Amino acid sequence: MMKSRQTALVLGGTRRTGSLVAKRLVERGLGARTASRHGGDVLFDWDAPTTHPGALAGVDRVYLVTPVMRVTYAGQVAGFLDLAEAAGVRHVTYLSTYGGDQAPPEVDIRAVEADLAGRGAITHSILRPAWVMQNFSDAHLPVVDWVITVPTGGGAEAFVDATDIAAVAVETLVDPDAHAGARYAPTGPEALTFAEVADIIASVIGRPVTHHDIDRDVWIDGAVAAGFVPADYAVMLRWLTGAIISGNGSRPNDDIEKVTGRPPTTFHDFARRSADAWLSLAAG
Ligand SMILES: NC(=O)c1ccc[n+]([C@@H]2O[C@H](COP(=O)([O-])OP(=O)(O)OC[C@H]3O[C@@H](n4cnc5c(N)ncnc54)[C@H](OP(=O)(O)O)[C@@H]3O)[C@@H](O)[C@H]2O)c1
Repeated sequence: MMKSRQTALVLGGTRRTGSLVAKRLVERGLGARTASRHGGDVLFDWDAPTTHPGALAGVDRVYLVTPVMRVTYAGQVAGFLDLAEAAGVRHVTYLSTYGGDQAPPEVDIRAVEADLAGRGAITHSILRPAWVMQNFSDAHLPVVDWVITVPTGGGAEAFVDATDIAAVAVETLVDPDAHAGARYAPTGPEALTFAEVADIIASVIGRPVTHHDIDRDVWIDGAVAAGFVPADYAVMLRWLTGAIISGNGSRPNDDIEKVTGRPPTTFHDFARRSADAWLSLAAG
């Protein structure tokens, strides 16, 4: 299988996991075509189906990042997968979310997982990562005035490095047959409370950082009111934070080591690597 054209279309190819997936695929001798609305190898817009055929031409596998900051996209993804199948794609690795098989019905994660499972001509692998460490060093869960504001009820999460998610994805894309039907839940090596995360960041940058455990509704309403997320995305935020608040945040497992042969990155190591992102706050 797949001896002639080993080229992957990497959706979300310009950002966190996709850019790393593309780089590593090339290092492993495959072709990788990054796709996004801005700055990828090829223009790809979920909302502009005319961009899909060109992106799929000549590829035999896909790293699937579904539309971000949305909950309704199963129809768009199904249409794209139909096209992919017809264009000769034979494997899809889907970037889902931790606990994706229990996502609320309003969120199309389960629908996309089920769609993939029902396709005869395409094998698939599903990655369900924990909350990503990089959330703290970019605009997702930013450190503002040296405070991280997230509703958690003191709960913990086994934060995972995007680099490790990408490493797992690459293995599935390099050898689809070995990972056909696999479900991996990449996590970091330890479950940490957000107060512990704040302490680690503080120790790395040498100044106090704290966690503000805000009321969940206030936090979600504020995010919608500020335009950080659309109103219908509130259900996703409620689900994600609810898992942590109820003590059901992700727990460490050995999926990353099992698939890549290397242990997952610790939050300490991620924080040391990312210190400049937080130190620039002090400078700016
Ligand atoms: N953050 C977490 O903790 C976490 C945890 C588990 C799973 N996830 C999942 O990870 C996925 C995001 O992956 P990521 O973190 O690697 O990417 P990311 O850094 O969030 O970047 C999103 C990528 O998608 C592209 N994109 C956005 N809107 C698009 C559109 N309408 N059409 C085509 N491309 C579009 C962006 O490029 P352009 O803007 O240029 O198009 C960018 O390349 C989401 O599905 C999220 O649910 C996140």
